[in-house]
Amino acid sequence: MSVPRDDGFVHLADYTAPAWRILRVELQFDLAAESTEVSARLQLQPDPGQPIAPLELDGVDLELLAIAVDGEILPDTRYRYDGRHLRVTGLDRDCVLETRVRIHPAANTRLEGLYRSGRLLLTQCEAEGFRRITFFADRPDVMPRWRIVLRAPHADYPVLLANGNPVSSSDLGEGRHEATWENPHPTPGYLFAIAAGPLERVTKTLETVEGRRVELNVWAESADVPRCAYALGAVERALRWDEQRFGRGYDLDVFNVVAAQDFTMGAMENKGLNIFNARYILADETTATDADFLAIESVVAHEYLHNWSGNRVTLRDWFQLSLKEGLTVFRDTEFSSDLHSRALKRIEVVRLLRGRQFAEDAGALAHAVRPDRFREISNFYTLTIYEKGAEIVRVLHTLVGETAFRAGMDRYFADNDGRAATIEDFLAAHEAASGRDLAQFARWYSQAGTPELRITEQHDAGTGDYTLTVDQHTPPTPGQAEKAPLLIPLRFALYDADGTAITTPPTPTPPNSPEWSS
Ligand code: SER
Ligand code: ZN
Repeated sequence: MSVPRDDGFVHLADYTAPAWRILRVELQFDLAAESTEVSARLQLQPDPGQPIAPLELDGVDLELLAIAVDGEILPDTRYRYDGRHLRVTGLDRDCVLETRVRIHPAANTRLEGLYRSGRLLLTQCEAEGFRRITFFADRPDVMPRWRIVLRAPHADYPVLLANGNPVSSSDLGEGRHEATWENPHPTPGYLFAIAAGPLERVTKTLETVEGRRVELNVWAESADVPRCAYALGAVERALRWDEQRFGRGYDLDVFNVVAAQDFTMGAMENKGLNIFNARYILADETTATDADFLAIESVVAHEYLHNWSGNRVTLRDWFQLSLKEGLTVFRDTEFSSDLHSRALKRIEVVRLLRGRQFAEDAGALAHAVRPDRFREISNFYTLTIYEKGAEIVRVLHTLVGETAFRAGMDRYFADNDGRAATIEDFLAAHEAASGRDLAQFARWYSQAGTPELRITEQHDAGTGDYTLTVDQHTPPTPGQAEKAPLLIPLRFALYDADGTAITTPPTPTPPNSPEWSS
């Protein structure tokens, strides 16, 4: 990602690839609520395509206890830490950077990074929280593989969860124990997670369509465990649906979900360890309403479905946020529509769009689904990025049809697996699969505002000609005075005077205004 310009904004146009790659991370946590020590070993590699540059890592409010390169303690002339960034000079080849820092989960009231929630220790790292845990290139296009070792007193933290697969656990004596997790998939720091504490679970083991045995767990504090059963069923339904509808299998040996009492977002799709606001997990079968169950199921599915749209294929930079969020909302909407009433789900979505997203798109904070600058990415988790982003994917689905859409998605996942992608990559995959030029369609991503349509119809009884005229106008939005025409698929049916559908499909006249094709 890029540094802010003098205007205080980070600009999409300033993107540059990282000068240093991180191939592998090994983290070791000595967990305690008041004070936790984090040791990190980063395997670094300079990008061979770029001139050698100093190593710049993010790290916010960390207490630096030790720093070494290739096993040698680094003299203080070689690095500078200003409380936000760590700069190390004199590195010019592959090397291993080791740091040890102290952080304070109980004092962390931002609930970003590692924090205490009751008797639990939890994390929230999207978008830029991982830098509050250790020094790291905290940008989504830096995607190492991970080993995470958690150590803690057994009495306070009997369960120790992290991303990936559990590889070992052992008793350390003196009432302490340790658990090691290995995440073999290239994963950016925003998907890092741990959860520690007196958690209990509901569990089910199943076999995926590819023959992998997977243990599904939903964890909560003991009093809440009976209310986790519905969420566990929802995980299984989401897993099966992604296998069938999108051909996407689950890729680890365990899938863990944790219900948290203190959580700023609705839920978070961390690799193999989703963390939820408890209100999207816990359901009492005797008091929950249909709407409660549907909301839980759709959020559980949303986070599960991110495992492909967001995690296996992640984002090049935060401007591409809708590439994972709009796409995943589209996918969870299709999941709910396939399992329940498609019509009711559509009514729910359209009410949200018309009631709230249209208002956002018409107001002072109107922004494109892919904005071209931001001050703070945390302000962009909006209805426009999520819901309008999902509707754009739906427009594409309508344009090319289910078969070509599925082929385009297969191609997108195949071409970008393990990579940090852009909206251009998404469109390129769909262009290749459908043979359709999506250059004009792409305007949906860069132009803010809700287009308004004026539709008039004319029927000439003498000739039998029926003419439908559609005018399109998008009102100006802040910073975008001029609007270009957007591609909008239109579906309609004609009926004769008796109310019988006229089955001969009408021949649409192709738009002939010069700007239409521009
Ligand atoms: N990435 C999270 C989600 O949308 C943020 O809430 O699922
Ligand atoms: Zn999401």
